[in-house]
Amino acid sequence: MTKTDSISAPRAAKLSVAPMMDWTDRHCRYLHRLLSARTLLYTEMVTSPAIVRGGAVHLLEYNPEEHPVALQLGGSDPAELAEACKIAADLGYDEINLNVGCPSDRVQSGAFGAVLMENIPLVAECVAAMRAASDVEVTVKCRIGVDDQAPEEVLPEFIARVAAAGAGRFQIHARKAWLQGLSPKENRDIPPLDYDLVLEMKGLFPALHLSVNGGITTLDQAEEFLERGMDGVMIGRAAYHSPADVLCAADRRIFGTDGPDSDPVEVVHQMVPYIERHIANGGRLHQVTRHMLGLFTGRPGARGWRRVLSEGASREGAGPELLLEALDRVTGGDIGVEQAS
Ligand SMILES: Cc1cc2nc3c(=O)[nH]c(=O)nc-3n(C[C@H](O)[C@H](O)[C@H](O)COP(=O)(O)O)c2cc1C
Repeated sequence: MTKTDSISAPRAAKLSVAPMMDWTDRHCRYLHRLLSARTLLYTEMVTSPAIVRGGAVHLLEYNPEEHPVALQLGGSDPAELAEACKIAADLGYDEINLNVGCPSDRVQSGAFGAVLMENIPLVAECVAAMRAASDVEVTVKCRIGVDDQAPEEVLPEFIARVAAAGAGRFQIHARKAWLQGLSPKENRDIPPLDYDLVLEMKGLFPALHLSVNGGITTLDQAEEFLERGMDGVMIGRAAYHSPADVLCAADRRIFGTDGPDSDPVEVVHQMVPYIERHIANGGRLHQVTRHMLGLFTGRPGARGWRRVLSEGASREGAGPELLLEALDRVTGGDIGVEQAS
């Protein structure tokens, strides 16, 4: 899909796949786009120092078919973020998102990510600089607070001041980040979810576009949040581990399109020419197929599919024929059903 025939990022934001480091790379997003034409896709976080000081512009490459696609930036230097935005805008991203939610050590030491929940004026300054740098919409992904902050106080203040600086949309991971003592992984599970607080924010800020994130695993849950007034739902791990369950019916159920749901078997066939191009350009099969292991999760043949791909895809010379061999395990009636991880 090119930018001109994809839907706008604010409309697509009714459902989005969350930014996930090492997971939502360009191959993963290409797969997700084949499963849903409408869902908004986020890149992994790319830091503004890497782009501006490190010259790592290759980290921003994407396939034109991925639109609508949002770049997530990590950083806390307004001028550097602005510079990164200019570069990203020239590349045609539909949205630029600032990460104020990631608790990893590396990110804390760079003074960005979730720790910025404690420095609202700096976030506002960053957003204002990013807005001034290009016409691309700037959005912010945040937590409800960090450490001993009181979320019911800090979250409304954060949203009000950052919105006044120019962010029109927020994706709120509905739990705190505890910056000391928990790993990033634990920080995605242990601090309790507070969906009610996020729903209250919609009441307080009716004009802003607010998405809820954290612990949502099905389209039924997504529909419920939309019915309760949220503007968008962002799904992370479930979309990665069981992409067909989350994305195949998304265009019809969330966006109201009339076409048939996408079919994961068909999507495997559509991945073949993509993989052929990737390999012809010097890439390896497993770089793409590692994101496809969960495609048949919960369906007959899932275990065989996963086994054939995980055992064969890293072998020297492995090509797309392995994908078709793995698909035989699914369409050929192998009965190994695998549950979502
Ligand atoms: C492997 C992994 C990497 C992640 N990387 C990022 C990231 O780069 N930026 C970010 O804002 N959040 C990141 N997250 C957090 C997700 O975007 C999301 O907020 C979190 O997983 C909660 O949503 P979920 O319960 O639907 O997975 C990551 C999560 C996972 C599992």
